[in-house]
Formats: sequence, C-alpha cells, structure tokens
Amino acid sequence: MFGKRSTGAPGAPTPQPAAPAPRPAASPPAPKPAASTLADDPPPPPPKAAAGARPAAPPPKPSASKIAAPPPKEKIAAIDNRSDEYYRTKTEVFNALIDTIDLSQLAQLDQESAREEIRDIVIEIVSIKNVVMSVAEQETLLEDICNDVLGYGPLEPLLARDDIADIMVNGAGTTYIEVAGKIQRTNIRFRDNAQLMNICQRIVSQVGRRVDEASPICDARLADGSRVNVIGPPLAIDGPALTIRKFKKDKLKITDLVSFGSISEPGAELLRIIGACRCNTLISGGTGSGKTTLLNTLTAFIAPGERVITCEDAAELQLQQPHVVRLETRPPNLEGQGRVTMTDLVKNCLRMRPDRIIVGEVRGPEAFDLLQAMNTGHDGSMGTLHANTPREGLSRLESMITMGGFTLPQRTIREMIVGSIDIVIQASRLRDGTRKIVSITEVMGLEGDVIVTQDVMRYEIDGEDKDGKLKGSHRGTGIGRPRFWERAKYFNMEGDLARALDALEEGSR
Ligand SMILES: Nc1ncnc2c1ncn2[C@@H]1O[C@H](COP(=O)(O)OP(=O)(O)OP(=O)(O)O)[C@@H](O)[C@H]1O
Ligand SMILES: [Mg+2]
Repeated sequence: MFGKRSTGAPGAPTPQPAAPAPRPAASPPAPKPAASTLADDPPPPPPKAAAGARPAAPPPKPSASKIAAPPPKEKIAAIDNRSDEYYRTKTEVFNALIDTIDLSQLAQLDQESAREEIRDIVIEIVSIKNVVMSVAEQETLLEDICNDVLGYGPLEPLLARDDIADIMVNGAGTTYIEVAGKIQRTNIRFRDNAQLMNICQRIVSQVGRRVDEASPICDARLADGSRVNVIGPPLAIDGPALTIRKFKKDKLKITDLVSFGSISEPGAELLRIIGACRCNTLISGGTGSGKTTLLNTLTAFIAPGERVITCEDAAELQLQQPHVVRLETRPPNLEGQGRVTMTDLVKNCLRMRPDRIIVGEVRGPEAFDLLQAMNTGHDGSMGTLHANTPREGLSRLESMITMGGFTLPQRTIREMIVGSIDIVIQASRLRDGTRKIVSITEVMGLEGDVIVTQDVMRYEIDGEDKDGKLKGSHRGTGIGRPRFWERAKYFNMEGDLARALDALEEGSR
C-alpha cells in the first residue's frame, strides 16, 4: 500500500517521506489536508460537502417563528425535596441553637463530639418549642443543622455524590451542577448570602486563606482534593460565586476513555506509544474539556524507573509511579508576601534531576522554562493549556512567552516551540455533553516563519441520532510515517505504532 510501512517487518522501515504520505487511494480520491500551517491555514472543509454547493437546507419545521418564541424553561433537578415549612422550622431551631451554644467552645471539640453536642441541644430545642415532626424529619433536621454548623451546609448532599463533576453556586439562591457533561440547575439553596459566605470562609480557612471584601478572590482545596474557587462581593455582584471541581478518587483510566468513546482503541494505543516513547506533549482544550484527566491517563505510560516531577496550582494529578515528587504553587499571604509561582517551580525542577516534568496547566511565562526543559534532555515532559485548536494552543504558547517579557524575535520563539513540542492532543467537550479526544497532531517544523503541523488522528462527526447524541469516529489521516516514528523505533515500538496507525486507517474506511 502506498504510503504505508510494511507492518510485517517492523525492524526495516522504509525511509521517511519528505512530505506526509497521502492516504491510500480508495474510492473517490479526496485528498485530506494532512499538513497544515499555523498562520494562514483555512479551517478544513466540512466533510462530505460538495465543492461550491451549499448543502440542501432541511425542510422547515411546522412550528411558527422561532425568534418570537419564549426561551425554553429551565429544568430544575430536585435534589432537595424539603418544603418551605421545613425551612421555616429549621431557621427557628437554628437561631435558638446559635443563641444557646458557645461556638468558640464547640470549635475546641473534635467533629464527633461537636456533632453529639449539637444533636443533644437540638433535640432539647425541638421538644421545648413543641415542634411536630416525625422521627425521620427530626433526623433530617439534626443532620442538616450539624452540616450547617460544622460542615458545608446545603453543599453536603452534592459533595457526597460521585457523579457530579462541577458544583457552581451563583449566590444563595442558585446552584448548578454538571452531571454527565451537561449543566443542570438544582433546587439547592442557602439561607442567605451570609450563610454562603460563611461556608466559603470555612472552606478557604482550611488551607490558611481568607475571603472577605478586602480580598474577595480565593483558590482553595477541600480535604478530599476538590478544587475550589471563591469570588465574593463586591466583585461578584449577585452574591458570592463558589465553583468546585469535584475530585474523583478513581481517576479515569485509558480503558474508561475507550469505553466512553472518548477515544478509539487504536487511538488509545497511539496515546500509549506517545506517552511511553517520551514525546514532549501538550494537551490543549477548553475549560472542563478533560485536559487534566487526559494528562493523568497519559502519565500511566511513564516507565516506573523514571523520576517525575509534577508542578500544579492545585494538586489534581494522581500518578501511579513510585518515583514522583509533587510540587504546588503558593499564592501570596495577606501582606502580599511569600508567593511561589509556576515559573519558580519549573525553574527549581531543573535542579532536581527530573527525567520528566509535568506542568498541570501552562498559563504564563513558565511556558518558556518548560520549553527549555523539553529542549534540554527532559524528553517526555507534558503540560496542558487552554485553547480550542492545536494551532491556537501553539500560538498561545508563543504569546505567553512574549508576554512574559522575553524580548526574543518571533522566529526564535517559534524555533523553540518546534524544537520542543512533538505532539499536541486536543480534548473537547462536544455539544451533546460527551468529552472526546478530537485530534492528535504532530508539530513538523518551520516553513519560513510558519509552524507546520500534521494531524495523525482526527475525530470526525458524521451526524446525530434521534436522542441528539453525536455520531462519529476517530480516523487516521493517512499519515504513513509520523515524525515520531524514529523515536518509536528507538524505544522498540515501531511495530506497535505501525499496527495502531493501520487500525486507525481501518476505522476511517
Ligand atoms: N473522557 C471523559 N469522559 C467523561 N468524563 C470525563 C472525561 N474526561 C474528563 N471527564 C470528567 O470531566 C470533568 C472535568 O475534567 P478535567 O478536570 O480533566 O477537565 P479540565 O479540562 O482539566 O478542566 P479545567 O479547564 O477546569 O482545568 C471531571 O469531572 C472528569 O472526571
Ligand atoms: Mg484541568
């Protein structure tokens, strides 16, 4: 087959073609734009559209004008099924409790004893006030009040659920969650903004930080590892906004990504080879597209003997290797002192004899230090960044370096990028809520001043089914011999690579 290696003799590969090998010509020879440029490459044409002809519009639906129609009503997930009456009683009991107990003494007790103390007093208040309640209702009330005083109040039922990816509280009355890739509103509510702010304060004080009018922005972490951001008034106009990225104890593995359809089996094999043969890899994607999860799965392919150093803003990665050093940045304290930036960490890493450096998220001038590390014998380093396409990711990298105050000529920066980054993997959350690896792209080199990239695999959407789920598949782009072939050969993996590429090709037929 033209453009393909002989999979039968992996030890004797044919020389690398100067240009990317075209896809074997099957029926209609529609060459795919395998190589693309960073600066002036038009987006690929939509699949199956006849050149020049606009696809026939679907027949109009019988409904009247869509523009005039009112917006569809928001569905509310009923997580909290307690009545207004219950809340009135709870406020009454709660206020009586606050008048009775000494909060400073309560703070001295351990969680268990404090709960016992609160339970005893609440039971007493309920009987003095003659509140009529069933045993079950009283149990709920006790639990609720304990959560309000000692825990995270109305957030507790959400924190206890494992299927929630994000919790987004927009002031006391509005809480959204993300489940299975879709955002939905819940009927969880806080007593008022003061209670919400109190809970935010409780969360951030556990990591020694404060959030108030003077310093209304704060990042923190829950004891279970969940990542938290709080922005309070006056910056948040409608009350404190609290965002929690729930920590998943059981991180998704590559087999999970395959079973969810986020990547095909040959695609997963390609990722394994990329991880194991120490390609310098950038994972690009939008917010919540699954970048950190993908980075975590890729680290599973690092050999156990390698010394890995991870640098993160809030430690999320869970590496399984025995030889890992985990580092975390630190914000300044109240006096504005003691800040340790990502650049500080990456620079320090270089003095720690790492085999690989993993940066949780590249967002600033540390990009320069990471590229230098990749360039100077720390092959297999990885990082994620926010971008919607691989090309956008590479140009963001360039602007991060420029904005970091490095007065290097544009061409030098681009040379650095092509000399350092081997692979860009693009993650995306599609409109049906599924998360997919939408492309694996190689950085080929510079042509003039332009960075040339080449997709090795792409996810192509064919349509959608009656439930609105997108249909599509991960397809090879006909690249016979990717640039990292030599590297795979060095690690004795070119046979695996050849088989994975062949299997991807099969998927595109
Ligand atoms: N392929 C996937 N299939 C289903 N769920 C996924 C997949 N990848 C990630 N998730 C889930 O999506 C959520 C967001 O994932 P993750 O933290 O990796 O995203 P991110 O791109 O790093 O987000 P951020 O931009 O906020 O850092 C997590 O709850 C994670 O478990
Ligand atoms: Mg992330």
